Amino acid sequence: MTDPLVIFTPSGKRGRFPAGTPVLTAARQLGVDLDSVCGGRGICSRCQVRPAYGNFPKHGVTVDEGALSPWNAVEERYREKRGLAEGRRLGCQAAIRADVVIDVPPESQVHRQVVRKRAEARDIVLDPCTRLYFVEVQPPDMQNPSGDLERLERALAEQWGLAHVVGDLRTMQMLQPALRAGAWKVTCAVYHGRGLGDARIMQVWPGFYDGGIYGVAVDVGSTTVAGHLCDLQSGEVIASDGLMNPQIRFGEDLMSRVSYAMMNPGGAEEMTRAVRDAINALVQQLAVQAMIDPELIFEAVFVGNPIMHHLLLGIDPTELGQAPFALSTATSLTLWANEIDLVLHPDARIYVLPCIAGHVGADAAAVALSEAPNRSGDLVLIVDVGTNAEILLGNSDRVLACSSPTGPAFEGAQISCGQRAAPGAIERVRIDPQTGQPRFRVIGCDLWSDDPGFAAATASTGVTGICGSGIIEAVAEMRMVGLLDASGLIGSADRAGSDRLLAEGRTHAWLLHDGADRGGPRIVVTQNDVRAIQLAKSALYAGARLLMDRFGVDDVDRIVLAGAFGAHISPLHAMVLGMIPDCDLDKVQSAGNAAGTGARIALLNGAARREIEAVVTRIEKVETAVEPRFQEHFVAASQLPHATAPYARLRA
Ligand code: FES
Repeated sequence: MTDPLVIFTPSGKRGRFPAGTPVLTAARQLGVDLDSVCGGRGICSRCQVRPAYGNFPKHGVTVDEGALSPWNAVEERYREKRGLAEGRRLGCQAAIRADVVIDVPPESQVHRQVVRKRAEARDIVLDPCTRLYFVEVQPPDMQNPSGDLERLERALAEQWGLAHVVGDLRTMQMLQPALRAGAWKVTCAVYHGRGLGDARIMQVWPGFYDGGIYGVAVDVGSTTVAGHLCDLQSGEVIASDGLMNPQIRFGEDLMSRVSYAMMNPGGAEEMTRAVRDAINALVQQLAVQAMIDPELIFEAVFVGNPIMHHLLLGIDPTELGQAPFALSTATSLTLWANEIDLVLHPDARIYVLPCIAGHVGADAAAVALSEAPNRSGDLVLIVDVGTNAEILLGNSDRVLACSSPTGPAFEGAQISCGQRAAPGAIERVRIDPQTGQPRFRVIGCDLWSDDPGFAAATASTGVTGICGSGIIEAVAEMRMVGLLDASGLIGSADRAGSDRLLAEGRTHAWLLHDGADRGGPRIVVTQNDVRAIQLAKSALYAGARLLMDRFGVDDVDRIVLAGAFGAHISPLHAMVLGMIPDCDLDKVQSAGNAAGTGARIALLNGAARREIEAVVTRIEKVETAVEPRFQEHFVAASQLPHATAPYARLRA
């Protein structure tokens, strides 16, 4: 008589096993992705499966109700104490008796996909470096004396196949009481890393531990520090938050922070302390939101531009402020959390993504990990817009990277009525081509300024200024309706008579909003504002164009706008201004905070760390500061839209 056939779905893996084989054993032998923390003891319920009964012509089997063994005492006890959903069985307890089709639900898969909320480049396969293992350890034996730690290491090897797992003094201090309290059963959190031992025991709990273990992915930006707290067992983001980077008080932009470090003895250390304090505060905030103990955060992943990277690590960034822009190290780093003063689990590990070049940092590497240009069949241009734009261009053959000094204008700085993106800031602008009258929207309100109820809806915030996306739209709309000429001059002949043009010495400003009647500020766009946007957009365009020259192309297939700011840029207005090369509008996508997504991928998938480390070594760096063509492109791009763009794109 042939052995029963077992078919697992959705993998389709199948095999014959002797009657009485537990489903978990069959799954392991076939390489089916079925989770287990307790090692098949009927405690963790991670191995839940759903047997399917009936006729399955597709699989060539008929499954009857008796295909799996009846519930045994362990499974019954689990169901009574904790409950099992209808139709579910514990894979470690249910044994195969006849042909059967077994579905492994997503939550029972070790390497499950973590579905991301926004339209982002790819989903994350869960494969974290820190995992839980439940083990039964031999009690001490006078005839065969050995230490608790040695017996634990042996148990991990025998029961989980974990060779070379090591513990340290802290492990021993935890292990002795835990073993006795747990009647020689313990759960261990083990970190599988590289460079700090193959696998290290980080925590030991008595008996079966069914609480959570967590990790945090942090994007250290020059303006904001943003973090996602993730459950390392499910991959879910359980809290997200951000705060202002307190280094702003030492300098608004990166170069002023480098200057602060140069001019002030101890200045770099001050900035390091400030950002580490902020990260600790952020971690606390996240832990409070998620109602977890920060000591259960076992890992943190960091990304940031090279200057943020150096300051976080306590390395003087002065070298990055001058040619040849030498990084202290470009490679990825694995550290202990306490080496950089972070208050997480006492043995928590920190992973810092590699940098690409002196101006293209670990944040750009994270964008590359998230957007994966190296896997793309299309030629994709990825622009991470911030104070410095980091630009990647490539496909599966080749990837190039550069950074371009756009300055802070795109963030609302250096703009006369500019402000950060916050409630009350104008973020959308439209100008009627016939009447020349503007309408706008502010952050925190869904109504346009000419909608009934706008004044009431914005009563609490008011209209306080204009943020980066607002000034881009304002300038682009002004150009489209003829308030600006191609050189960027306000008050060109077409609209010389507009009642919103205000004389300012020998130039003009344009009145976007007169808030005086509501006790608010007047919001104007000045000639200097237009010039600041022209400089920023020329730098961005020139950087992209330089990479296209190097690649030997005049067009790209897709453009991805990354960064929190990139998420708010209107592709049409960006194109009208000539911020980005010409491309079909429907091929311009927003990736949201791609650097944060890349950090999260590295947190949840150890293999992704190896992948990005390899990709970064293959990325070709282009240094805009020494490329004569950069200046040529910069000058050519100063026109609105720019010297080479088809004017037909203007929709007026
Ligand atoms: Fe833990 Fe089945 S493997 S309950």
